[in-house]
Amino acid sequence: MGISNRFSRNKDQESVSDISNNNGSSDNDKIGLEGPSKLQDDVDIIDLQEALSSDNEANIEDLPDDIAELPKIVREAVTFEDDPSTPTFTFRYVLLSLIFIPPGAFLDTINSYRTTSAAYSVFFVQIASHYLGKWLAKVLPNYEVNLYFFKFNLNPGPWSIKENVLVTLTAASGATGNQGTTAISVADLYYGDKTNPAVALFFMWCINFTGYSFAAIARNFLLYDPKFIWPQALMQTNLFNSMKRADSNIKIGSKQMKVFFGAIIAMTIWQFFPEFIFPMTSSLAFLCWVAPRNEVANFIGGGLGGMGFLNISLDWSNIGSSVMLSPYWTIVVQFVAFVLGAWILIPAAKWGNLTSFKHGLMSNKLFTAEGDPYPTTELMIREGHDIFFNQTAYEVYGPLHMGAQRAWGMFFDYAAYISAISWILLFGLKDVSQAWSKFKERYTQKTTSRKENNYKTISETYSDRLNKIQSAYPDVPLWWYLVLFGITFVVLITIFATGHMFIPWYTYLVALGFGAVIVVPLGYLYAISNFQLAIGSFNELMFGLIIQSRSGGKHPASASSYGAIAGDAWYRAQYMLQDQKIGHYMHINPRHVFWSQIVGQLFGVPFNYLALRWAIDTKRDYLDGTLTDPLHQWTGQSIQSYNTMAVQYVLVGPSKLFSLSYNKIIPYGFLFGALAPVVIYALHRAFPKGKFNLWNITVFSSAMSGFYGNLSTGYVSQIIVGTISMFYFFRYRHKLWARYNYLLAAAFDTGFNLSILLIFIFFSAGKQVTMPNWWGNNADSVERCFAL
Ligand SMILES: *[C@@H]1O[C@H](CO)[C@@H](O)[C@H](O)[C@H]1NC(C)=O
Ligand SMILES: *[C@@H]1O[C@H](CO)[C@@H](O)[C@H](O)[C@H]1NC(C)=O
Repeated sequence: MGISNRFSRNKDQESVSDISNNNGSSDNDKIGLEGPSKLQDDVDIIDLQEALSSDNEANIEDLPDDIAELPKIVREAVTFEDDPSTPTFTFRYVLLSLIFIPPGAFLDTINSYRTTSAAYSVFFVQIASHYLGKWLAKVLPNYEVNLYFFKFNLNPGPWSIKENVLVTLTAASGATGNQGTTAISVADLYYGDKTNPAVALFFMWCINFTGYSFAAIARNFLLYDPKFIWPQALMQTNLFNSMKRADSNIKIGSKQMKVFFGAIIAMTIWQFFPEFIFPMTSSLAFLCWVAPRNEVANFIGGGLGGMGFLNISLDWSNIGSSVMLSPYWTIVVQFVAFVLGAWILIPAAKWGNLTSFKHGLMSNKLFTAEGDPYPTTELMIREGHDIFFNQTAYEVYGPLHMGAQRAWGMFFDYAAYISAISWILLFGLKDVSQAWSKFKERYTQKTTSRKENNYKTISETYSDRLNKIQSAYPDVPLWWYLVLFGITFVVLITIFATGHMFIPWYTYLVALGFGAVIVVPLGYLYAISNFQLAIGSFNELMFGLIIQSRSGGKHPASASSYGAIAGDAWYRAQYMLQDQKIGHYMHINPRHVFWSQIVGQLFGVPFNYLALRWAIDTKRDYLDGTLTDPLHQWTGQSIQSYNTMAVQYVLVGPSKLFSLSYNKIIPYGFLFGALAPVVIYALHRAFPKGKFNLWNITVFSSAMSGFYGNLSTGYVSQIIVGTISMFYFFRYRHKLWARYNYLLAAAFDTGFNLSILLIFIFFSAGKQVTMPNWWGNNADSVERCFAL
């Protein structure tokens, strides 16, 4: 059955009741809806999209309860119509996934070896697959292929939005880099240890699948409950539905698409200026214009190595769509942390008497007591595949000194991680325990309303409309996640126990443990605030602590190996959850979403590996520093910094790293992270009206740990864009906001990525072309802070 007519303007009422009445042919009908009669009462519900398109705002009193229950911004983005027989896993889906995954998987891997990089955006896939899919639906023959065990039609009718969603989710899973490539590259490039290709592939697959299986830990808390809105998922949902509306010739849909494509084109063209032609626009340092040769003014106003005071950036890469998605308060907390870190602490350290940090205020390098760069590699003794610590050399060079900003950055990094746990224990316990009791209820309370399944379904536990619609589909059973986890566990433990991938097997168990603990707190934060916490430095420290007591040789690539497992246990879990939420908003069978992720990884990882081998085999001399790339492209700088970091944590170890008296404070970040939320909580209890609960310590700490050494511009622009979008328009022009905010956010990101891709193709993929210097692209300082 086709769907095109279903999305037309006035059909909105029939579709919800469709689920319970019309789909007799599909076996989904067994699940049915608990209260079809209730739904039919809603026949004249005000379709939100209708309301939006026809200039009269839906009034909340007019809404049926199960819709009013959803947060307003969710109601504005989703549709309440569904046809469970819409095709999903079609030949077209497979074809398009095969087309979109390889370039993304390849490009994103290559980026980690290069200085300039080209981004591959999920929005690009979302939009391109929409049009390609429609084209395929036109040109493919309507032909039934019969492979004995399995039949499918090349073209089962009009291109469906669900295929569009699934291609996008598959690409989001597969068309990206893989954390596992770092460890493999570090070992190969700097230590000559080649990883067996089969081991590499299975390692890369399994670390991601572990994360996917960890999604099961959090899904009962964070997925079905409408309170958890997952802003990024809402943004993508909004775009899907707008494209669909435009297709069905709804006026507002076409207008939205015009604005959307107009914004993409404008942003694509604009980004050529800050990124190539007119780099000065990426950091407008007003203080430097007034006093271009004054050292103090330059330092205060400079955005590239200064404090970035009143510095405006017009480069979208320094702003990002996140400020158009996060709740306003999150944006404010981040800005406050920036002001404190860059405008107060940095000058205090520079001109005040934080004299113990003598060297490299805003550098992330390590120094000797004299302020020379610390020769970390001298501390290494190589024996076969292992490295040992050279105590004699350490005594010669003395303890390691670090820059002030780096030191407090580490402090707040640790604080952020711990505070997420502490925060959820204090503020989130009620939500979590509610979700838990709903979960228990589902698995313990029998219901008589149906024969086959004696336990309550999700839709009986959560009563909102979206969950009701989703009850047409069977959920992903828990055992699928368990089997997935079981497979990865067996494979990975075999890999480590046989001495591959550089880490002792028990550290793998520790990585899993930390991953399991952090999934819910970080997921909770992300689902509400769109705030993604980077947990890399915490993991490195953890690994350093575990490994430092171990005598004997250690491999520097081990830190990256550990980091890939512990990191992906959360990062990938989050993708799985977010994509499940997109599926929830788009009325997609959760099992199909699950498989789309698995398929994406199965396709993607071989291309990650190919890209890795290609880069290492053809560019090795540049990457390992034997030769200098005349174009300064294949510098491998990110791999190199992983190597340096590994030497610090694995070889030197946390206890020596924190041995200097003024560095001793750093581990107290843990204490700060654990206790600061308690203080906030106490204040919140004492003054419930004081809104202290908004002072999110995780968001604050994480923003405090931001490193301003390279870049302190963009923050002022972020608060401006955030205020316009998430405060002014959200509050005072809400209807316009609902129509265009997410679309513009997506368009800006797409335009930015497209522009970077074009710049990459035109000016650096083949022959390197550099922009000639001119007033707006000064050779000494693009922002014209000449004294910096
Ligand atoms: C350890 O470092 C010292 C001082 O730099 C050096 O002389 C010695 O050769 C190193 N030992 C090894 C085994 O490399
Ligand atoms: C702070 O984080 C908690 C979860 O960790 C979340 O519930 C809360 O909404 C967040 N607040 C803001 C303003 O981001």
